[in-house]
Amino acid sequence: MQSPDSRASPDSHLTAGGGSVELREDLPLKAGAARARCCAGGPRLILAAFAALTAAITLALLTQIYYGDYEVVPHGSVSSSAAACSRAGTDALKAGGRALDAAAAAALCLAVLAPHRTSLDASGALLYWEYREARTQPPVLFEWGGDAAEGGARPPRLLAALAALHAQLGALPWHRVLAPALQLASEGFLVSEGLSAAEAASADAPGAEQPPGANVTAPALARYLQALLPNTSAELTTTWGTGSQLRRGSPLAQRAGAWRVLAGGAGGSAALRALAAALTPPPASPDDAQRRVLLTLQSEAQTGASGARGVATGLAVVDQRDTYIALVTGLSVPFGSGPQTSAGWARDEPAAPLDLAPALMLDDHVCGTYLTLQ
Ligand SMILES: *[C@@H]1O[C@H](CO)[C@@H](O)[C@H](O)[C@H]1NC(C)=O
Ligand SMILES: *[C@@H]1O[C@H](CO)[C@@H](O)[C@H](O)[C@H]1NC(C)=O
Repeated sequence: MQSPDSRASPDSHLTAGGGSVELREDLPLKAGAARARCCAGGPRLILAAFAALTAAITLALLTQIYYGDYEVVPHGSVSSSAAACSRAGTDALKAGGRALDAAAAAALCLAVLAPHRTSLDASGALLYWEYREARTQPPVLFEWGGDAAEGGARPPRLLAALAALHAQLGALPWHRVLAPALQLASEGFLVSEGLSAAEAASADAPGAEQPPGANVTAPALARYLQALLPNTSAELTTTWGTGSQLRRGSPLAQRAGAWRVLAGGAGGSAALRALAAALTPPPASPDDAQRRVLLTLQSEAQTGASGARGVATGLAVVDQRDTYIALVTGLSVPFGSGPQTSAGWARDEPAAPLDLAPALMLDDHVCGTYLTLQ
């Protein structure tokens, strides 16, 4: 159960063996994170969850469930593993941004703050659902990376994917989306316990191990992001030719009593099975559902195959238009993109698809609450 990653887990307070995680009543997020009025289209409860079922990634997600940080604003909420990045997302919502603006701002921020789990070149999977407009349609699944790329120069994949999605679905100017990541990279951010531990455990860490709480900058990454400011996401997408490299599909779906579970990505079918099992027999309440999902993820982590591969981080966003995003990004190994260089990234080319699995769960029969669980 002690996966290579459990020590390096970003904001992990797990002890060796990982089984010491206790369910807490005061789970960070989530019940009542936002109370929506009973809406015209009928009541519903939505849970956005992430699951990916290698032991390492499940552990990562478990720790996020327990220690993830989130921001709530009147018109939406953002949950990620770093408070500064959740704030980057909610700032985008407050500035009039839509869910995609918030998700992109938070994901780019995580590429700065959590280089042991994600990077500008990270692979990823994203579920996008404009629920109010399209509740009868399934969410759209977008995927990128996850495999060895073709040779030759290419733009960093997470950045390119987010730019292409932003060109279609964003409302804020692209430079505004880049701004929080740029600011943290140039002015300084605090090293998390997870990053510090990952640096200590990794031979390829970018530079010496930094103690938790150290205020550090990422100058090369800042220069790279700075150079992107003058261009729009549409210009970048055209120049890079990346729009067409986003794989677009539908998540798998399964019913479990009153609940619908939707999951996509390479880990999607396993995630779906586990989440549906967690909701059978029907949970007595949303809290019960939440508790069971946590227990399931915990037990997945404990029984997971030893061949864990990859590290990941994720985030969930809901905006005032009831657009939901669940995004998971990951690398094949901690610091898989290597030290940040003046090019901003290095190649991370997993030998097999990463088991990334963004998931959404919803109960059409519960009124007025949504949870974004990450
Ligand atoms: C890091 O230090 C700089 C000044 O050197 C400061 O502007 C910045 O706010 C600090 N960052 C944090 C997160 O404390
Ligand atoms: C950025 O914009 C400038 C001027 O609009 C253009 O010349 C340049 O090719 C663009 N760069 C990219 C990467 O799209």
